[in-house]
Amino acid sequence: MGGQGAAGELFAVRWLPAGEGGPAVRLLDQTVLPSRAVTLDCASVERLAEAIASLRVRGAPALGVAGAYGVVLGALAGTGAEVAAATLTAQRPTAVNLGWACRRTLAAGPSAGDMLAEARRIEEENRAACAAMGRHGAALIAGRRRGRASLLTHCNTGMLACQGIGTAFGVARTLWEDGGLATLWVDETRPLLQGSRLTAFEAAALGMPHAVVCDGAAAGLMARERIDAVVVGADRIAANGDTANKVGTCALAVLAAHFGVPFYVVAPTSTIDAGCPTGDDVEIEQRDPDEVRLALGSVRLAPADSPAHNPAFDVTPARLVTAIVTEHGVAEPPYTASLARLAPAS
Ligand code: MRU
Repeated sequence: MGGQGAAGELFAVRWLPAGEGGPAVRLLDQTVLPSRAVTLDCASVERLAEAIASLRVRGAPALGVAGAYGVVLGALAGTGAEVAAATLTAQRPTAVNLGWACRRTLAAGPSAGDMLAEARRIEEENRAACAAMGRHGAALIAGRRRGRASLLTHCNTGMLACQGIGTAFGVARTLWEDGGLATLWVDETRPLLQGSRLTAFEAAALGMPHAVVCDGAAAGLMARERIDAVVVGADRIAANGDTANKVGTCALAVLAAHFGVPFYVVAPTSTIDAGCPTGDDVEIEQRDPDEVRLALGSVRLAPADSPAHNPAFDVTPARLVTAIVTEHGVAEPPYTASLARLAPAS
């Protein structure tokens, strides 16, 4: 079944009401993109938990929406909303939006109807936040250079990750729609290739100028091509601005500092974890070593008995981050003060 709507708009998550074959959480299965667009209806919390763990739905803001609807599913399907929230949150420990949205939906209960209304609000807030981040980020980049800008990005931070136009990708898209994007360089993003499989798919669907590069090409690009900024998303931002994002992000930040390229993190304020003082306090999700040893589960890339290490994320120190773009505006160093202003602890 197709997952692509009009004008290249994609979805990550949808609530399927009882009258339309639900209650269920409908996902576009991201593990088979870009070869196939397959939708998956999760009618149980267990099925949704598997889908989250295996990255059929992924990206911090989209995980929040999936988790919120999953809590409603738990309330309706007999699992119980509290068990659903705990089960779903445990699947991706670094992505703060998942636990945040589950807790928020749970707090709107005990009625499933009230929880569904809250989950829908979270989804709508995501869309609005993406649009606002796009505007703030595009203005920031356009304000720094005359002519069209070339950006480098990592992983997938677009519609598939956000259920909105995206975070970093949304900035690139807004800039492009304003006539200000020369090209978006897309890191393939080892080991699961969210850049080449998903970001390039989104850019191609929209007709945005882009080119996929191997992760190892970033240094050469910064040295020899004009890169105006690196733009990335975040899975959790500590109170001091240290940023956890897809593994490989920290290497880009180090390169950007070396080559004098601005490094922007783009994330909604729901990704800021005021309860997490520094990046050292962020739990980094460790995934199956076979994601490294095998290419997408099939072609062998390393001997089966070679040990492999597979952290899903790394932490970029705040001192390497030029600015953090949120829906409420742009935070600049020192982040402890600027983030607290944009996202006061509740
Ligand atoms: O493991 P994933 O694919 O869920 O990782 C996603 C990322 O690291 C994104 O950059 C992050 O969630 C920000 S998405 C807007």
